[in-house]
Amino acid sequence: MSASPLPQSTRPDFAALREDFPILHQQVHGKPLAYLDNAASSQRPRQVIDAVTYYEEHDHANIHRGVHTLSQRATDAFEGARKRIAGFINAASERETIFTRGTTEAINLVAQAYARPRLQPGDQVLITWMEHHSNIVPWQMVCEQTGAELVVAPIDERGQLRMDEFERLLGPRTRLVAAAHVSNALGTINPVAEMITLAHDRGVPVLLDGAQAVPHGSVDVQALGCDFYAFSGHKMYAPTGIGVLYGREALLEEMPPWQGGGDMIRMVRFDRTEYNDLPWKFEAGTPNISGVVGLGAAVDYLGAIGMDAIAAREQELLAYATERLLQMPGLRPIGTAEHKASLFSFVLDGVHPHDIGTIVDHDGIAVRTGHHCAMPVLDFFGIPATARASFALYNTEEEIDRLAESLLRAREVFA
Ligand code: ALA
Repeated sequence: MSASPLPQSTRPDFAALREDFPILHQQVHGKPLAYLDNAASSQRPRQVIDAVTYYEEHDHANIHRGVHTLSQRATDAFEGARKRIAGFINAASERETIFTRGTTEAINLVAQAYARPRLQPGDQVLITWMEHHSNIVPWQMVCEQTGAELVVAPIDERGQLRMDEFERLLGPRTRLVAAAHVSNALGTINPVAEMITLAHDRGVPVLLDGAQAVPHGSVDVQALGCDFYAFSGHKMYAPTGIGVLYGREALLEEMPPWQGGGDMIRMVRFDRTEYNDLPWKFEAGTPNISGVVGLGAAVDYLGAIGMDAIAAREQELLAYATERLLQMPGLRPIGTAEHKASLFSFVLDGVHPHDIGTIVDHDGIAVRTGHHCAMPVLDFFGIPATARASFALYNTEEEIDRLAESLLRAREVFA
């Protein structure tokens, strides 16, 4: 994920891009909406909405099944989007790009189809302390099923992975590393290239949870060398209910299917079934076709702007928010890693995060409050919840100013 400063000559017009997002142009409680909850789900540009609507109005039919025109059009839209999405993350081929409902389903697929058949009692799966529940619970489940052990690499006070401990915990029984590329609760960007090198030196494959990384910078799965990479459409300007599991072809070939049903087979008899080729072997049942069309449109949209430019713009917003919010008396940031993606988690003395969320909502500002589906991280910091402002390409410095002013009012109310 790159974030060099943006030269004016190549700087996209972010104010004009904001106009692409119809939902942002509304009032909430009589104030202009400032949507700062992008780590939970980002908004869709007109281009994505139009692509989905066009598909629904003109091309929808089931895919891979019909010789009729609409089925062929739907199949072309679906497989064409797969090709562009595979290109967006630089997968070596479309066979390595499997559609899932989202990051959570992608991780569960790897837990059940890759890890479960391989893990023996006493084997270990290594995760980190900053994982989202979706990169903890599937591993707890598979450990329970197999007798393997879940090992957790600790973090430091800034919310950074302790690399010395990570390396030490990569032991002779480690069978898989599963780690966030970017932490959703802290914003920490993990040193994933170094983690992959350490793991691969010991013959251990690596899954990265890229849900918070793919929307915010350029991700090249071949350059990273990871074995699996999971991400979600709805955090990257695409619809909900669609996501991707990237997997190295050799590993996917070795894995049994996860779910059985239509489309994942080549031939079915009662005594024997032949499974389909990749990627369809892992795509049982009618998929979320319009979601795939929307995700295809989202990667076109992001590709046209350029992920490096988006990363640089979001770093500007993060720097501005950090400077502005740290001036607030009684505010404590949670997650101060050296390398951070564009989100700012914090607690405010004397004001419960849920009250912060309610008060700023009355000023038209959407932030997330709570445990962010990462309870162990909050336990580490000894707090039950934080408030979190998370930025996307359409956010502005003015919205951050409004958040700061609203927080001052929240403090006055509770003082
Ligand atoms: N994982 C999402 C978040 O961080 C829901 O808010």
